[in-house]
Amino acid sequence: MTKKGFIFDLDGVIVDTAKYHFLAWRKLAKGVGVDFTEIQNEQLKGVSRQKSLEKILEWGNKTLPEEDFNRLMALKNEDYLTHVENMKEDEILPDVPKVLNYLISKEQPLALGSASKNAHTILDKVNLLEKFNAIVDGNGVKIGKPNPEVFLNAAKLLTVNPKDCIVFEDAVAGVKAANAANMISIGIGEQSVLNEADYVFSDFTEISLEFLDDIMSNKITKQNNH
Ligand code: G6P
Ligand code: MG
Repeated sequence: MTKKGFIFDLDGVIVDTAKYHFLAWRKLAKGVGVDFTEIQNEQLKGVSRQKSLEKILEWGNKTLPEEDFNRLMALKNEDYLTHVENMKEDEILPDVPKVLNYLISKEQPLALGSASKNAHTILDKVNLLEKFNAIVDGNGVKIGKPNPEVFLNAAKLLTVNPKDCIVFEDAVAGVKAANAANMISIGIGEQSVLNEADYVFSDFTEISLEFLDDIMSNKITKQNNH
C-alpha cells in the first residue's frame, strides 16, 4: 500500500459547525440590514472570517469603516463561540471516526486543512486533536482557499507529495483549492454544488472501506483536469 496523505477540512466535514457559522453570520448581517440565503451561504464556506464579512457587505452594498468592520468580525466570532462552547463528541459527523481510525490503522498520515482560526479549540472539544499528524488552520495560512496554500502546507508537514494527497471538503472554495494543489478532491455534500470535485459523497456513511483501500492501492485516481 502506498503512503498517502489524507487531508480533512473541519467545518462541515468533521463537525457540523457550518450551520453555526451560518447562524452567526446571518444574525450579524441582519443587524446591519443585510439578508442572505443559504445558497449565498455556500460561497462563505471555506472562506476566511474577513473575506466572509467582505462578501456579506458586498451583497448588501454596504461599506464600513475599518473599526466597525473589525468589531463586527469580533462579534461574529463571539456569537459563533457560544455554539462551539457546548460542543461534544456527539457533534462529530457520522462515520468520521470510522474513516479516521481505519486510515490510522493502515498507518496513513492525517492532516487537518481548515481556514478556521478556531480549529484547535473545536478539535479539542470533540476529542479528535490527537488523531492528526499535522494541523494547518487559519492561523498558519497567508492566502485562503481557493488558493491551494493550506493543503500544500499540510502535504509538506506530512512529507507526502501533493499528488499523493486526498482532500475531503464540503466547500466549493475548498474543492477548487484541492484541485489547484493537484490532489484528489472528495466533495462531502451535494453533487450539484460540488461538481468540480473528483468524487462526491453525501457524507462519510457513503464512503466504504473498499473505496479507501482503492485510494491507497492507486486504483482510485484524480478524475478531472480542472
Ligand atoms: C471555515 C468555514 C468558514 C469560516 C472559516 C473561518 O473555512 O467553512 O465558514 O469563515 O473557516 O473560520 P473562523 O472559525 O476562523 O471564523
Ligand atoms: Mg468546510
